[in-house]
Amino acid sequence: MVSYVDAQDGAQRVAGTIPLHSEVGFAGMRKAGNLTAQALDMLTAHVRPGITTLELDRLAFEFAKDHGAKPATLFYRGFRHSTCTSLNHVVCHGIPSNKTIKEGDILNIDITLVVDGWHGDSSRMYPVGEISRKAERLIEITYKSLELGIAVAKPGNTTGDIGAAIQEYVEGQRASVVRDFVGHGLGQLFHDEPSIMHFGKKGDGAELKEGMIFTIEPMVNLGKPNVKILSDGWTAVTRDRSLSAQCEHSIGITKHGCEIFTSSPMGIFNPLEAQNK
Ligand code: MF3
Ligand code: CO
Ligand code: CO
Repeated sequence: MVSYVDAQDGAQRVAGTIPLHSEVGFAGMRKAGNLTAQALDMLTAHVRPGITTLELDRLAFEFAKDHGAKPATLFYRGFRHSTCTSLNHVVCHGIPSNKTIKEGDILNIDITLVVDGWHGDSSRMYPVGEISRKAERLIEITYKSLELGIAVAKPGNTTGDIGAAIQEYVEGQRASVVRDFVGHGLGQLFHDEPSIMHFGKKGDGAELKEGMIFTIEPMVNLGKPNVKILSDGWTAVTRDRSLSAQCEHSIGITKHGCEIFTSSPMGIFNPLEAQNK
């Protein structure tokens, strides 16, 4: 396997090139991804009506500290928290706050933990108590779209194949795919090449090769795809205030397919499937 990333003295982004990682990188990502997934598992029991997103963020921070990890978002470009907490019509990058969550809300928690220099980036949906059928349906569509994207993440396919698989399915369900935020390469860097659009055309984009490591993190809206950023400079919301959901895995391209680094040790990545167990 071609590798120059692991050989570098400290990770440097090489403009216009997509890093190919060796087994060292995959091992690092496995560990970081697993701890990230454990943090998201841990939060499940705490997502109850009455808790604030700041309290959830604090739990995530303590978890990271207790496990020798660093939350990558802490002081990242002025972001001051360990998680992004995106509620209902918030698309992504919601800032943890003193606002309590309530029965019927749907919450996305996104966390990136750095372990031994490697970044595990994942997010999931958390239903708060009983949620509406339409919220459930949105979550189901979002998870299924990520699965379909992962299914075509293999050598010989392209980044556009991933986007096309996601877009085709989501729009077929009469929901929409957000265009403004994309999946990204990661490893010793938080955000690297390639960009993974969650829409597009089959065959477009970069060819996927063994050793590439990136996230797939579709954001799906029940209404129109358009978003706006609130005056805090971070919070992205749907323009039409329709409900939005997201889920994210970090994956690595292998010889014949891909490896998911952020699978839930408790088997509860998809909260609705977990409920039905
Ligand atoms: N974890 C997010 C992602 O999936 C990035 C959050 S950056 C922040 O790429 F600064 F908003 F936290
Ligand atoms: Co990400
Ligand atoms: Co993320």
